[in-house]
Amino acid sequence: MKSKNSFEMKEKNIVYFDNAATTFKPKRVVDKISDYYNNYSANSHRGDYDISFKVDDEIDYTRDNIRKFINSKIKEEIIFTKNTTDSINIVVFGFFYNYLNDGDEVILSSSEHASNILPWMILSTKKKIKIVFVDSVNEKLNLNDLFNKITDKTKIISLAQITNVTGDKRDIKKICSIAHENNILVVVDAAQSAPHMKIDVQDLDCDFLAFSAHKMCGPTGVGILYGKYNLLKKMLPFTYGGGMNLNYNEESLELAEIPYRFESGTPNIAGIIGFGETIDYLNEIGMDYIERHVKYLKRYLLKELEKIPYIKIYNKECEGSTVIINIDGVLSGDLGLYLNKRGICVRSGKHCAKMGDNKEDTVRISLYFYNTYEEIDLLIEALKDKKSIYEFVK
Ligand code: ALA
Repeated sequence: MKSKNSFEMKEKNIVYFDNAATTFKPKRVVDKISDYYNNYSANSHRGDYDISFKVDDEIDYTRDNIRKFINSKIKEEIIFTKNTTDSINIVVFGFFYNYLNDGDEVILSSSEHASNILPWMILSTKKKIKIVFVDSVNEKLNLNDLFNKITDKTKIISLAQITNVTGDKRDIKKICSIAHENNILVVVDAAQSAPHMKIDVQDLDCDFLAFSAHKMCGPTGVGILYGKYNLLKKMLPFTYGGGMNLNYNEESLELAEIPYRFESGTPNIAGIIGFGETIDYLNEIGMDYIERHVKYLKRYLLKELEKIPYIKIYNKECEGSTVIINIDGVLSGDLGLYLNKRGICVRSGKHCAKMGDNKEDTVRISLYFYNTYEEIDLLIEALKDKKSIYEFVK
């Protein structure tokens, strides 16, 4: 595959199947970041000199690139944050803290990532709101239960488009349509979907959407918050300081324009510039290709796993890029360490999700487009070696 040679880490004989946690970075993205540090390392929106103008141009380029990537109407709807968690916190405490009234309800699912549960739980300690959890059946969100749980108090539905553990893919377009008929706003955690499929915020008609650069071959420390412009006009900044104000004195503060009022302090300039390059790179590969290739890889992985009788697969019905497994009598952490010994990187445990104590720990295999069938064969070979597994864990 054309992209493969640009990943230097892939040449280190590592089989990397922890892509839902973070992805490898192509050399051209790393080079773009180094170029900033080596050749024009100025601050943004501050200097009246050429290298600072270049920084501003590059940041604008990334913002518009993201706008096109998710088909938002205007680039002012794109806010740079640290990551998905930061984006959701900004929207929960900057927008919904003021929007919600006593008795209002927020619908979530218990299979959300902690970053789409904990901010709402903290909000519920500050406001008298109720959090309502939707049921899942066979690890998939029960849409009927979701629609049944809507009441005249429901004001928000906040869901991952694809969950990070089971890879449950939700019909966000349908959810938004029903939500809007009931005057409910929809927040979408796209951390696991933006890397894998085309996102069109106008078609989905979601109100807010959050994702992270590092899960899609971009740098760590850069996230995106998309919001409809008319909602952003009502959102208050979550952090205050330089860059987000036009004027202030002891009595008043004049906020900068949207989106700058939500981007206080010096941003992750190198990361944002690197993310612009990442989007060019993903566009060249094609999101359709990425989605299709991962789907075929996963189909092959499932087919091969099913041939191993002692492997329990939990999420066969789900469409995302993850497969979660266990082996009877083997702790998931031990299986992860065994695979590590064979040069295979997976994640084990609760994966920052799975609310409650009664959920099992699992081993998660998560794929991306640069993975290959040969790598899956190496994993299968390691998992078929039952004797070595039990010797390793005893
Ligand atoms: N959210 C990341 C994961 O699922 C860290 O692994």
